[in-house]
Amino acid sequence: MGIPEQSTRSALPRVIRSKDEIWRTVVELKASGNTIGVVPTMGALHAGHLSLVERSAAECHVTVVTVFVNPTQFGPKEDLAKYPRDLDADLNRLGRLGVDLVFAPSDEEMYPPGHSTFVEPPRAARGLEGQCRPGHFRGVVTIVLKLLNVVPADAAYFGQKDYQQSVVVRRMVEDLDLPVRIVVCPTIREPDGLAMSSRNTYLNRDQREQALAISRSLQAASDLAAAGQLDADVIRDRMRQVLLAAGIERIDYVALVEGESLQEVREVAGPVVALVAAFVGETRLIDNMRIG
Ligand code: PAF
Repeated sequence: MGIPEQSTRSALPRVIRSKDEIWRTVVELKASGNTIGVVPTMGALHAGHLSLVERSAAECHVTVVTVFVNPTQFGPKEDLAKYPRDLDADLNRLGRLGVDLVFAPSDEEMYPPGHSTFVEPPRAARGLEGQCRPGHFRGVVTIVLKLLNVVPADAAYFGQKDYQQSVVVRRMVEDLDLPVRIVVCPTIREPDGLAMSSRNTYLNRDQREQALAISRSLQAASDLAAAGQLDADVIRDRMRQVLLAAGIERIDYVALVEGESLQEVREVAGPVVALVAAFVGETRLIDNMRIG
């Protein structure tokens, strides 16, 4: 069995809304010898997502993209209601890449009445985003586990843009013995350095210009480390200065952490990840870069 009949290289992927149907379809495809890649997304697809899709398509026979704005990973004061949603545009983009299947369930399909079980996230979820967005990773690991259960893929593709999420998901998959390979793909940036994000659509022209300071602050950290600066406090200070100079004052964190434990480092003695979370206007953006 190849890819499902309805989607054989047609313009648009086949959209499946029910958990049972996506599970059955994927199991049948696997039984016929296909390898499956899954790209979990919340839609509003941009070039960053598409790079994950391309990587999956290069490595697997069939790619399933999930499109689900997961309510349980948003805090009460966050942007769930206004999060960009445009399934038709997403399907067009995915069709052009030859994606076979899209799983786009409703909230009720994923969280039917009575749903009350959540996954306790690993230790790596405690700081950074976990601290600023209480409950966020509980929602993320719960939905990722549920999606991997109903789309029993061989490999799942995540972006390095959400660095902490990628560490947390890898840990969860290892700790819970899930039979899936997690692939983390590089951040895709605009030519001027801005990391691709669905939330960039909230920015007006001035804010978009201001947002460039986030990638500039990471680059400044990388340059300092490359020039031999080992003192993490000095590097963090410089990162803050770059943000403040651009008028970004609401800074959730500027961090230099060890890549697996996500513990803050004192010295950039080996590979370290620099991370920033800050508000540009009302829009909260995150970005990161490996340095050292
Ligand atoms: O990175 C995202 O878009 C989401 O956190 C994910 C992994 C799809 C879970 O809802």
